[in-house]
Amino acid sequence: MPESYSHLEQWAPRGLRLLIAPLKARHLDAVMAIERVSFTTPWQRSLFEAELRHRHALVLGALSLPSEILLAYLCLWLVLDEVQVQNLAVHPAYRDRGVGRYLLIKGLEEARRRGARLATLEVRPSNTAARRLYNSLGFFEVGRRPGYYQSEGEDAILLDCNLAKSRFLPPIAD
Ligand SMILES: CC(C)(COP(=O)(O)OP(=O)(O)OC[C@H]1O[C@@H](n2cnc3c(N)ncnc32)[C@H](O)[C@@H]1OP(=O)(O)O)[C@@H](O)C(=O)NCCC(=O)NCCS
Repeated sequence: MPESYSHLEQWAPRGLRLLIAPLKARHLDAVMAIERVSFTTPWQRSLFEAELRHRHALVLGALSLPSEILLAYLCLWLVLDEVQVQNLAVHPAYRDRGVGRYLLIKGLEEARRRGARLATLEVRPSNTAARRLYNSLGFFEVGRRPGYYQSEGEDAILLDCNLAKSRFLPPIAD
């Protein structure tokens, strides 16, 4: 993954120096600490371990510099020209500062560089922060899965984003 995409630096959170980098097994303690406080049904550690090994998966972290403390992580699946956002969470102490947006933009740009043209994901209707984030990046609703989140019976909203036309990424020259 390229060290930096200079055209994306306009989205970098102010007051933080962040390194966006592929995560390794040594980061999983920090990932799990964020995961457990972020979701009512957190992923098991073994699922993250499988993601790190999977050839279609891209697992990125936002690490604060110079300490390299993990502030956020993003799990993507790249299959042909589609990228699925599987997981995204920001440490509670660093939310609403642009970290989630910056990490997602960097991840989607990397996915686009690898051939993705469509991004897809699912979100809970009640997740205001996530919906605002996705909306701001050009995701739009394409459907609903009734009762998808079994713990509360909440629907899932299905969102798509056309990466070829997204306003936060530069135009594709193909
Ligand atoms: C959803 C999440 C990843 C967003 O990351 P973040 O770094 O806090 O978000 P950002 O600072 O980049 O802000 C993105 C947008 O969300 C809004 N936002 C952030 N926190 C918010 C909150 N608590 N309430 C309402 N809006 C919020 C921001 O104002 C911004 O919206 P705007 O573009 O309209 O100004 C983060 O809140 C999180 O980790 N939540 C728990 C896990 C989760 O729900 N993951 C997503 C699953 S689909």
